[in-house]
Amino acid sequence: MENLRLGILGLGQIGAGLYTILQRKKAYFRREIGVNFDIRKIAVKSKTKKRTVRVPKGLLTTNALSVVRDPEVDVVVELIGGTREAKKLVMEALRCGKHVVTANKALLAECGDEIFSLAYRKGLWLFFEASVGGGIPVMKALREGLAANRIDSIHSIINGTSNYILTKMTDEGWDFEEALIEAQKKGYAEADPTLDINGTDAAHKLAILIRFAFGGRVRYSDIYCEGISRIRSEDIAFAEEFGYRIKLLAIAKRSGGRVEARVQPTLLPKSHILANVKGSFNAVLVRGDEVGDSLLYGRGAGPFPTASAVLSDLVDIAKLRTSSFEGTMSPMRALRGRLKVKTMSSILSRYYLRFRVVDRPGVLGRISQVLGSFRISISDCVQKERSAGSVVPLIMLTHDSHERDVHNAMRAIGKLNIVRGKSQVIRIEEG
Ligand code: HSE
Repeated sequence: MENLRLGILGLGQIGAGLYTILQRKKAYFRREIGVNFDIRKIAVKSKTKKRTVRVPKGLLTTNALSVVRDPEVDVVVELIGGTREAKKLVMEALRCGKHVVTANKALLAECGDEIFSLAYRKGLWLFFEASVGGGIPVMKALREGLAANRIDSIHSIINGTSNYILTKMTDEGWDFEEALIEAQKKGYAEADPTLDINGTDAAHKLAILIRFAFGGRVRYSDIYCEGISRIRSEDIAFAEEFGYRIKLLAIAKRSGGRVEARVQPTLLPKSHILANVKGSFNAVLVRGDEVGDSLLYGRGAGPFPTASAVLSDLVDIAKLRTSSFEGTMSPMRALRGRLKVKTMSSILSRYYLRFRVVDRPGVLGRISQVLGSFRISISDCVQKERSAGSVVPLIMLTHDSHERDVHNAMRAIGKLNIVRGKSQVIRIEEG
């Protein structure tokens, strides 16, 4: 029986989920997997705080450094989030010879090079299944199940909060605020939910996915990142009429020696498999050169799915400690060269454009003319309401166009006196 001694940092939503599963399934882990998970200490901010789980007082400490330095701890499980304190503790844990399991996507996206290098130099395991896709074993699938493949593209829904909000707005007509509050209540959102809404959380996860899927490092700051806060109910309704749903996608594609890397609200055909991923569910659609398309789907957020992923890492570490085989299991795949990220201005995409225009003859022609002068071809167009002289929405879908041209055309159209207020641009992926 392998005895794995754990030092846990943090007893928030995920920490409480992990603690609960470790209690509930203690006998199961011993019997079925041959591992005894032995919690030595749990570092918390306050010992007296009211919690959803009952934990013996003796297990709690407010001294996180004492946990990472404890000679009786084999693995440090970092669940406090954020980058500053978490980085200090993870680095110290590695210096002290502990294996590390973390759910912290911000930490790995922003400081991954430093942390992975230290783990590599020290010959320690650093696992992070819970950092991407909640309970979906996506890192394991990339490292092992898809090991024979060169990964060519990833299209993913990896922020449960945004997906929950867009789903409620689409299917039930909720407003944005109402859906966000509910996502927070369900424990999907980050402590600071702006990270969910503005796409940062998904960009952090995409940086980690790219590192392991494409076998190279990208600068996190090179990833284009746009969240869902400017999506209006009317865009959802218009998209629906054209046969599309709006999803927040994190996309990475190999493209002419570089990678495209972007997080963006996207129109997807309703028949697209990702258009049907609802609520807090996440999905990662991977295209490999041998396997073709492979979809990884499951609960992307919430205490128990995330704790399930943490436990899969702990089981791996327990197994790896008794075997000398590293092979494709090695997270050090991440230490290959740097990948160049394609600039957004050079990408090619289809676009959904929404203008508010004065309803009078010649307006449509004027806008089409500007688009045409920037080599943008229109594939579909609709102006719903009609009331002479008033301001009405005009929606156009384009064929493949260069982002640079769309940007310049929108600037030119914005200067026309027939256009009122802010226009909307959303990229379309056909899949
Ligand atoms: N806030 C994250 C989400 C939690 O909504 O997906 C999982 O990382």
